[in-house]
Amino acid sequence: MSLKIAFQKPSTQTTLCLGVYEEGHFPSATQTWDKTLKGLLSTSLKNSKFKGKLCQYLSVFTAEGQRIILVGLGKKTDQNEKQWQKIGGSLSFILDVSANGEGAVEIHSLEKSDDAHVAAHLALGALLKSWRFETYFTKKKPDELFSLKKITFLTPDPDAAEKAFKPLSKVAEGVFLTRTVVTEPANVMTPATLAKIASSLEKDGVKVEVLDEKDLKKLGANAILGVGQGSDKESKLVIMRWEGGKKKDDPLAFVGKGVTFDSGGLSLKPASNMEDMKYDMAGAGVVIGLMKTLALRKAKVNVVGVVGLVENMPSGTAQRPGDVVTSLSGQTIAVLNTDAEGRLVLADALWYTQNRFKPKLMVDLATLTGAIVVGLGFERAGLFASDDALAKKLTAAGEDVSELLWRMPLDDAYDKDINSDIADVQNISNARGGGSITAAKFLQRFTNKVPWAHLDIAGVAWTEKELPLCAKGASGFGVRLLDRFVAANYEEK
Ligand code: BES
Ligand code: MN
Ligand code: ZN
Repeated sequence: MSLKIAFQKPSTQTTLCLGVYEEGHFPSATQTWDKTLKGLLSTSLKNSKFKGKLCQYLSVFTAEGQRIILVGLGKKTDQNEKQWQKIGGSLSFILDVSANGEGAVEIHSLEKSDDAHVAAHLALGALLKSWRFETYFTKKKPDELFSLKKITFLTPDPDAAEKAFKPLSKVAEGVFLTRTVVTEPANVMTPATLAKIASSLEKDGVKVEVLDEKDLKKLGANAILGVGQGSDKESKLVIMRWEGGKKKDDPLAFVGKGVTFDSGGLSLKPASNMEDMKYDMAGAGVVIGLMKTLALRKAKVNVVGVVGLVENMPSGTAQRPGDVVTSLSGQTIAVLNTDAEGRLVLADALWYTQNRFKPKLMVDLATLTGAIVVGLGFERAGLFASDDALAKKLTAAGEDVSELLWRMPLDDAYDKDINSDIADVQNISNARGGGSITAAKFLQRFTNKVPWAHLDIAGVAWTEKELPLCAKGASGFGVRLLDRFVAANYEEK
């Protein structure tokens, strides 16, 4: 269930949030209330530690028992979309204490900013932060679950705020779809289930094709088939097309790794934290969520999304270390470690995508390597790009939405480490370090010189701590970034 967002003209409400700039200055809405309440707010401020720092808050009660929560807006000079979203995120958290599950917010007339724009971004932040996955709790009482149901934003022009919020709400819908499929356990989110969810985008106007194992065999996509051959769940390649641009325009392509569970295969992973590998389909989840957002907001652009869906399991039919497969591209691959499976899935998915669609560019997303987590931790995703302009656009889009990237190298010198003694290429490197880079170099061999970027999202797809716009769990990292990347660079205005 999702938080309801409403916009209306200022009115009296039982639980009300008001903004305060850092160092205690009041924006005009708060000033007006302070006058009405005969200085209650300024007195409370004086008598507390609360000073209006970003996302700090203070509860105050009026003589009539109305609850007023003062919320820090940060520095007057720092006001921008990202800041408002963060404040919105803290509103979700703060208002979760309201008795009736509803709260109102009167934060507008900020420094040099238009009220509708402020309200819309506060609302987006609140919505993103409110998302929870509580499907499988059968015994918890309502107050043990997230209980905020509705936030009303009080703003002078509710219609304008509604209009500004509409496209943002479509972004949130895409993010929520991604978070949902990433959070579902691997016994539920199998390749078939995920393919079905992708197919459900047909109702939003996306054209969807699902290739099954028979189709993949016919094509010769043996790299992806090899990864799935130990599992009793059928592997799939799903192609989604959104055609919102001009007919003659080549599409943008987004490709996702969708390993619905990565046990490592016969190169079995250790038991500790293996349960995390249910989110090894996050790349595919992001591509599906992005397609949803683009379709819902009727983006004026042609986009294809391709996801390779497999389960990586050990069994009597599993791929063995040392096996050689002929990939869709014709290149042969020595599979030295069955746990380096994501790159095998992407090898065929990338080749298929460039060969069939001749895209303007390709961006793939994958929880590809543990090594990227060693290098960049949980704050930034790794960006690898064959094209400087593409790298710049992606980095800028990431900064616009607070989904940060860090560019990593792709020098040819790294490439020789994946040459094989028995095949064209091998799926792990002979060298000891640089595991994320050699993984990217492996992918690059299947891009056929189309401008290409690879986002290694292994460290950011899931968060163990609360983030400003995301509760613990699946983050949906990449949906907002790529939506912005598309909107800022490729849509007809
Ligand atoms: N899915 C993992 C990478 C991963 C690790 C994702 C942690 C999310 C969190 C990937 O398939 C994998 O197993 N990579 C190996 C590659 C190695 C065998 C060359 C790794 O990183 O250890
Ligand atoms: Mn693996
Ligand atoms: Zn994996």
